[in-house]
Amino acid sequence: MRIGRGGLRPDAVARRPPRTVIVPPIGVQSVEQPGIPPEGEVVLGSDLLGALAPITIRYGPGVYPLTDASRVTLRAVAAAGRLHGRGVDWGCGTGCLAIAAARHTAVRQVIGLDVVTANVLTARENVALNGMNERVAIVHADSYDPLDDGARPLLESLHGQVDFVVANPPASPADDGFSFRRRVVRDAARFVRDGTVFLVQISAQYGRERIHSLEAELPGLRYEGCAASTPWVAFDQTRPDLRYLLRAYAAHEDRGGAAYAFGDPRDPNAAQIDARAALAIYCEVGASPLSRWQVHEFRWRPPQAGGS
Ligand SMILES: C[S@@+](CC[C@H](N)C(=O)[O-])C[C@H]1O[C@@H](n2cnc3c(N)ncnc32)[C@H](O)[C@@H]1O
Repeated sequence: MRIGRGGLRPDAVARRPPRTVIVPPIGVQSVEQPGIPPEGEVVLGSDLLGALAPITIRYGPGVYPLTDASRVTLRAVAAAGRLHGRGVDWGCGTGCLAIAAARHTAVRQVIGLDVVTANVLTARENVALNGMNERVAIVHADSYDPLDDGARPLLESLHGQVDFVVANPPASPADDGFSFRRRVVRDAARFVRDGTVFLVQISAQYGRERIHSLEAELPGLRYEGCAASTPWVAFDQTRPDLRYLLRAYAAHEDRGGAAYAFGDPRDPNAAQIDARAALAIYCEVGASPLSRWQVHEFRWRPPQAGGS
């Protein structure tokens, strides 16, 4: 099956909020998403990847499919011509980001890490399918810790040697949604070297305060700016995972957590609204709030050299 580049559907139909909240499994983002077949083959072309194209990605049931978040991260990786040396793809899923990053001529090696066995096996198949076995290795791991002892020497060889980290992490359902992003940078402490680049998928609704808060997770980390963004898109409340997250965000604000930042679906040019207001509007008129799929860039410098 070949799937074209899909856009998000407009969310024009008014809907009442569901009574049942569907909770995605802890630590692993829901793989069942409306409009995305549970298995298939996607050929990523030059419209997304420029000179890195083509890349063919196959996936089966239970494997994280390519989503809009995957695509904006692929776009950021493709545009990051400065990537070089050795890198890590945290939460590699199908392996799409690892394969794309390894297509940059100055990149020597990418290690893709994933905690789900089905993703690890699929990513390995995709690496072979795209002729990238020489440059990409896929490791079963919880964050940067290998779950397969045979991969330990490879991960240890990366200590202080990682030139870049790319990550499209899942939302963490048990808290403010942001814990996996914190882990991506915090757990990287023993791997970074002077100048390590982080390209992390962080959608706009998380808000500037949370994005900047990642600097505190890894001393020496500095925010560099937004590397890729979509225009406003619906934070689609017909998607079970996003429906769950909007309610979790509102509950987090109720407990005094930092506010989220959504676009107002009634007027995208109006001031941004928090999750509680976004949920209230959805309940009232059935319009999903707006966000932007984005990738943000950080760079690590040794704290003494960076003056912090
Ligand atoms: C949003 S998906 C992204 C997949 C792929 N990189 C992409 O962009 O399409 C997040 C991935 O993180 C993986 N993951 C979740 N928790 C993890 C952990 N603790 N360590 C490593 N990978 C993890 C999931 O299995 C999933 O494949």
